[in-house]
Amino acid sequence: MKRSVILVVDDEAVIRDGIQRVLEGDRFEVETCMSGHNAIECLQKNDYGLVITDLKMPGMNGIEVLKAVKALQPDIPVILITGYGSIDTAVEAMKNGAADYVSKPFSPDLLLEKVHNALSHSMPPDETCLKKEVSLHHGFHQFIGESKEMQKVYHRITHVAATNSTVLITGESGTGKELAARAIHENSPRKEKPFVAVDCSSLAETLLESELFGHVKGSFTGAVQTKTGLFKVADGGTLFLDEVSNISLSTQAKLLRTLQERKITPIGGTQPIPIDIHLVAATNKNLRTMANEGTFREDLFFRLNIIPIELPPLRDRKHDIPILIRHFLKKFTAQIGKEIRGVAPDVLSFLNNYSYPGNVRELENMIERAVVLAEGDVIRNEDLELWDSKDTSSTSMIDHIPLNAEELKEMKRHIRDHAMESLESGFVRNALERNNWNVTRAAEETGILRPNFQSMMKKLGISARGEH
Ligand SMILES: Nc1ncnc2c1ncn2[C@@H]1O[C@H](COP(=O)(O)OP(=O)(O)OP(=O)(O)O)[C@@H](O)[C@H]1O
Ligand SMILES: [Mg+2]
Repeated sequence: MKRSVILVVDDEAVIRDGIQRVLEGDRFEVETCMSGHNAIECLQKNDYGLVITDLKMPGMNGIEVLKAVKALQPDIPVILITGYGSIDTAVEAMKNGAADYVSKPFSPDLLLEKVHNALSHSMPPDETCLKKEVSLHHGFHQFIGESKEMQKVYHRITHVAATNSTVLITGESGTGKELAARAIHENSPRKEKPFVAVDCSSLAETLLESELFGHVKGSFTGAVQTKTGLFKVADGGTLFLDEVSNISLSTQAKLLRTLQERKITPIGGTQPIPIDIHLVAATNKNLRTMANEGTFREDLFFRLNIIPIELPPLRDRKHDIPILIRHFLKKFTAQIGKEIRGVAPDVLSFLNNYSYPGNVRELENMIERAVVLAEGDVIRNEDLELWDSKDTSSTSMIDHIPLNAEELKEMKRHIRDHAMESLESGFVRNALERNNWNVTRAAEETGILRPNFQSMMKKLGISARGEH
């Protein structure tokens, strides 16, 4: 069996290098990190066989590293290095799932003994057992989807729900970030306590601060009553900060302090109030890029990004489209009270190949509209009304109200033709794009005979090099 890499985390170079030498002397492969933040970044990218971390480090301490390991890769054993006499923390570490601890100063032999012990007791992840646990369902909580990308998300949610580590959920609009936040809460020991969601994009800076931290009566004009901050309202439960990238830099500083101290001071107040919350944040922006550009505090990004959960866009997990369609059809036929058997084959093939810039929300809206509009018991092309609503030529058509039945019929045909054309054009261009503008491969992938594909291109005025 391949000997897996050991990650050593210590802010003191002497100890870090010392441990590395001892382990490498025993032919272990070693990687080192000088801070908890670094370690978490490594754990997000690579697999390790064991983590050895110092307890006392500035920024993020060893217990926090341990908790992050337990949420990210629960099967990796962790050994804590504790200072002389810090037996209480060692006990706390063991309670949090540490495999072992070693007190400073320690001999090389003792360290190696503990390492071998931890590695021999660590169980290889039981793939079959993990798989059974989730793929019994087509989904998880409110999530529908059985693709391997979503299974990863479900696992991460389950693991992080058991911990108190801060979570950062990222993903394009409509990928289910809010669903994920709720699922974390529902799976956690905090589920009987409040789940409080705050949309950070909808509140002005000062309002957001008084919403989050609360204020004391009379602390500013308009503060006619004392207000309890949402951090306190969520006490014992989960606080979900949605669209966290919209928080101003000055509120970010307060948020960072709150997360470090686990206390809030209401505006105009003097007494800090302890808080006990599981913080889950979400954004569709790239906070790392924002941190590089100086619009988001890097230290806050690290604090939030302890456990990242990335929701994949729907176009990257096309396997899930058919069950999502079935799910939404069932939902909306029941809601609207229509009997619909299914989707016509050409509609299904469109839905399976579409790129969904609005992700699951867009698919959900499309099916709802189709169920409302459907005249028969099968969803047909015209029920989807697939024209681009931003397209001026079709909207200007709608601006004109038909005056008689003949005109209505004529306009309907026009709109439909136009919608059809933009649908086909999107479909053909997309297929070509995916296949590097190779016509033969694009035709093959979409299941259309090459001459037919070519005549579609001709009709739509698309040339093989992509010029219109
Ligand atoms: N995997 C899924 N299964 C079923 N429904 C889903 C799934 N993902 C998202 N949805 C549905 O899609 C809609 C959008 O989901 P949600 O609000 O969680 O997205 P979001 O990522 O927070 O989007 P935004 O960035 O726009 O706020 C909701 O109605 C949700 O129920
Ligand atoms: Mg959202």
